[in-house]
Amino acid sequence: MKGKVAIVTGAGPGIGRATALRFAQDGADVVVAARRQAPLEAMAAELAKETGRRIVAVTADLKDLDDCRRIVATTVETLGRVDALVNVATHPHQRASVAEMDWQAYAESLQLNVVGTMTLCGEAALRMAETGGGAIVNIGTLATTALQAKGAEYSSTKTAMIAMSKVLAREMGRKNVRVNIVTPGYTTGEPLDRLFEQMAAGFQITPEQISRRLAKSAVLERHVDPEDMAEACLFLGSDRARNITGTELHVTAGQWI
Ligand SMILES: NC(=O)c1ccc[n+]([C@@H]2O[C@H](COP(=O)([O-])OP(=O)(O)OC[C@H]3O[C@@H](n4cnc5c(N)ncnc54)[C@H](OP(=O)(O)O)[C@@H]3O)[C@@H](O)[C@H]2O)c1
Repeated sequence: MKGKVAIVTGAGPGIGRATALRFAQDGADVVVAARRQAPLEAMAAELAKETGRRIVAVTADLKDLDDCRRIVATTVETLGRVDALVNVATHPHQRASVAEMDWQAYAESLQLNVVGTMTLCGEAALRMAETGGGAIVNIGTLATTALQAKGAEYSSTKTAMIAMSKVLAREMGRKNVRVNIVTPGYTTGEPLDRLFEQMAAGFQITPEQISRRLAKSAVLERHVDPEDMAEACLFLGSDRARNITGTELHVTAGQWI
């Protein structure tokens, strides 16, 4: 990625940070975007120090379409081009049956997972096309194939995002813009710890027991790490994946094959 520029949105402490770090280690200058200015700027400074690359923090809410367009515009203004875009942010989805859905909350998920994310993808794709091509990677979820009761908000909005990503791949292929999905398994970090705590309360066992049980259900009998997602995003975001588009790469340790 030397001489190239990547954008990582939803650059929190987990997959986003690991991905921004991996692109920078590979030589890219990187724009990181999330809503909270202080932790974002601290992370950008850390990554810049660690890699020697230019890391630019753009505070933005992906539910706001002007913010989405501003991320791409700022990238071009400050770093000159866009070669790769990785979208990590997702909405904290409600667990509710379809019959009891809070549709206002659902609309927020739709706004982030579909409308905002695809606005960004469209803007970035047009900029990439101007400079000979580029690559977009969106983060999926196994919840789009394993459908669970009370999981409709997450499953359906992410499914729409995946379908649109594949349509975009079709639309932008002739301009050498590739679009792919990385689908994580249970990925270690704070969000997963919170999930295990919630599940443990429901099953009346400890979070450690839930964690071991779910790790065992993967073919490789372990969870995956943010660094595994980062490696997959870097591969799909670089020219090494130059003939891969419109596909989903499962990085799940063989969960739910
Ligand atoms: N962790 C897992 O086990 C797992 C499994 C399957 C799929 N995934 C997928 O992985 C992604 C999440 O990765 P992660 O677990 O590493 O999450 P994370 O640590 O929670 O990071 C996501 C970051 O996105 C930012 N964000 C949230 N809403 C935003 C918005 N409206 N606009 C801009 N930024 C926003 C947040 O920072 P601010 O609060 O500062 O905005 C947050 O730090 C999601 O796409 C999820 O569907 C995760």
